[in-house]
Amino acid sequence: MTICIKTPEEIAKMRIAGRLAGEVLDYVTPFVKAGVTTEELDRLCHDYMVDVQGCIPAPLNYAPHGHAPYPKSICTSINHQVCHGVPGDKKLKNGDIVNLDITTIKDGYHGDTSRMFYIGEPSIQARRLCESTHEAMWRGIRTVRAGAMLGDIGHAIQSFAEGLGYSIVREFCGHGIGKKFHEEPQVLHYGKFGSGIRLEAGMIFTIEPMVNAGKAAIKQLGDGWTIVTKDHSLSAQWEHTILVTESGFEVLTLSADAPPPPEL
Ligand code: MF3
Ligand code: CO
Ligand code: CO
Repeated sequence: MTICIKTPEEIAKMRIAGRLAGEVLDYVTPFVKAGVTTEELDRLCHDYMVDVQGCIPAPLNYAPHGHAPYPKSICTSINHQVCHGVPGDKKLKNGDIVNLDITTIKDGYHGDTSRMFYIGEPSIQARRLCESTHEAMWRGIRTVRAGAMLGDIGHAIQSFAEGLGYSIVREFCGHGIGKKFHEEPQVLHYGKFGSGIRLEAGMIFTIEPMVNAGKAAIKQLGDGWTIVTKDHSLSAQWEHTILVTESGFEVLTLSADAPPPPEL
């Protein structure tokens, strides 16, 4: 396993790609409301990335082993959809929760971030799941520093989420990121404190927990991409791209309107 330690020049490029990914979410936020289709959100984000930011949308035609090329520029995962929801002609409706996952490529480097959005007024349960998943991500982020262990991240996320009665999706994880969309290491969102590799300054990876209100089991839909909960329970996800530093971490995908970290 080879984990790339980024040079200062690469880190500078990752800061730009990361901020741009966050700014796509800022840009699209006012459009995420009842009546809009996820295809329309995909088009808005695509055009903003390409025409305004001069970025390449990384998901478009992305074809990891065993997958048909991804047909759209962003992922839109609604309600019981866990991740990799493919934008389509379905209109978002009052009470839905939706994750928008944006990955930009700028100057050869990737930035990857996602947020949950409420359509109108969500149920109390849906709001609690989304807020708790945001806090789970931040609890994972806050364990990061040079010398800490990779497993500390997953342990912090899992113990918090399962303590609330939720379950963590196992099949998908955070990932190293840089010149490639998905690099080593795999960043599990569950695990044992002190396990795994030791973190070093200059590593860059995502933390992107998927938390289900019901059971952890998932399945893939016939489109070959969309992942849903088997029990059709609600699922939420948040994602940031994180740089490991000597004293802690730097969140590379922050932007003006990114929700602030929760107080503990
Ligand atoms: N952005 C997702 C992640 O966080 C990956 C999406 S792959 C795609 O890793 F092909 F579905 F876009
Ligand atoms: Co990611
Ligand atoms: Co992502």
